[in-house]
Amino acid sequence: MAACVDADGLLEPTLQNVLDQQTLKWIFVGGKGGVGKTTCSCSLAVQLAAVRESVLIISTDPAHNLSDAFRQKFSKAPSLVSGFTNLYAMEVDPNPDLSEVEGLGLEDGGGSFLADISTSIPGIDEAMSFAEVMKQVQSMDYSCIVFDTAPTGHTLRLLQFPSTLEKGLNKLMSLKESFGGMVSQVSRMLGPQVPGGEDVVDSLLGKVDQLKRVVEEVNAQFKNDELTTFVCVCIPEFLSLYETERLIQELAKFEIDSRNIVINQVIFPEEVGTSRLLAARVHMQQKYLDQFYDLYEDFHIVKMPLLEEEVRGPEALQAFSENLVRPYHPPPHPASGGSNSLLEELQRQVAQQVQRIAELEAQLAAAKR
Ligand SMILES: Nc1ncnc2c1ncn2[C@@H]1O[C@H](COP(=O)(O)OP(=O)(O)OP(=O)(O)O)[C@@H](O)[C@H]1O
Ligand SMILES: [Mg+2]
Repeated sequence: MAACVDADGLLEPTLQNVLDQQTLKWIFVGGKGGVGKTTCSCSLAVQLAAVRESVLIISTDPAHNLSDAFRQKFSKAPSLVSGFTNLYAMEVDPNPDLSEVEGLGLEDGGGSFLADISTSIPGIDEAMSFAEVMKQVQSMDYSCIVFDTAPTGHTLRLLQFPSTLEKGLNKLMSLKESFGGMVSQVSRMLGPQVPGGEDVVDSLLGKVDQLKRVVEEVNAQFKNDELTTFVCVCIPEFLSLYETERLIQELAKFEIDSRNIVINQVIFPEEVGTSRLLAARVHMQQKYLDQFYDLYEDFHIVKMPLLEEEVRGPEALQAFSENLVRPYHPPPHPASGGSNSLLEELQRQVAQQVQRIAELEAQLAAAKR
């Protein structure tokens, strides 16, 4: 895709490239805990809804905060977001009760057997539930699906699901080989209605195999940069910079495209006013912003402003989302009308400091007497 470069040779500082790429089907939004993943993924979904036929946003975070962000209760089935005609949201339980997973034939007792197996293969329950969701979502025909992911470690686990399912399959196979004969003898003795037995192993094997194929197919799509991209969200602080680097390296290892970094909660110098605290934060943030620009010159780096209030409800999200496509410019200082008043503000501050120095000098002279 042709990249849009500005006069400084930097890539355009917006997510317009994501909106323009009509082939994109899967868009992941991820990063460290609490940096604004949900806010940014909902905002991106809002912008996508304006240019794509239908958009689904899915949360794979056990803490589920799509409902909080949109101020609307969502469930594990997609529902229309109020105020939109083509934006849907769903919240998926990443740790479901596997005995309720459809098609396993375990609803009447085999569930505990499955629970035993799933605890012996770490991550298999999560992998199976993800595969179930993907199977469901693939049959739904949305033009594009945005994932609001859980914090970084969890997201990276999600990408390892095919190998987790592979391990699960192998374990089940060996279980069947070692115990298959014995299990079927016992179940024959006890009668056909008794839950458990070889049928359960076979049905599990079939199910895990089927889900593994879904995950493999989906993962192949995730590795295709025409179909999939990963938007990294972070804040201009040391830990977040560090974690972003780790995430970007892992994504490269999994061959998943990433070329956009959203730096959230940026304080703009124009908004500092007379606050020493804010001035210090701006100074600190600038150091990390410089590092982001140095490290990721081939990325679109989008700066999102720290607002005075939380970003909640469709209107707030709509307003915030505009900054993803049009770089944020702080409004003029309330006490001023433009650069002239900035000059006046500085003169006022200098006069204040001069006065303060005079007072201190008077106190010093008095103390010396
Ligand atoms: N730029 C911002 N200005 C002001 N408030 C913000 C901004 N970005 C996010 N917030 C608020 O910060 C809180 C955390 O944001 P959010 O839920 O999007 O983070 P998250 O990365 O999804 O967190 P978690 O890791 O817990 O899922 C929310 O209350 C949100 O409204
Ligand atoms: Mg979140």
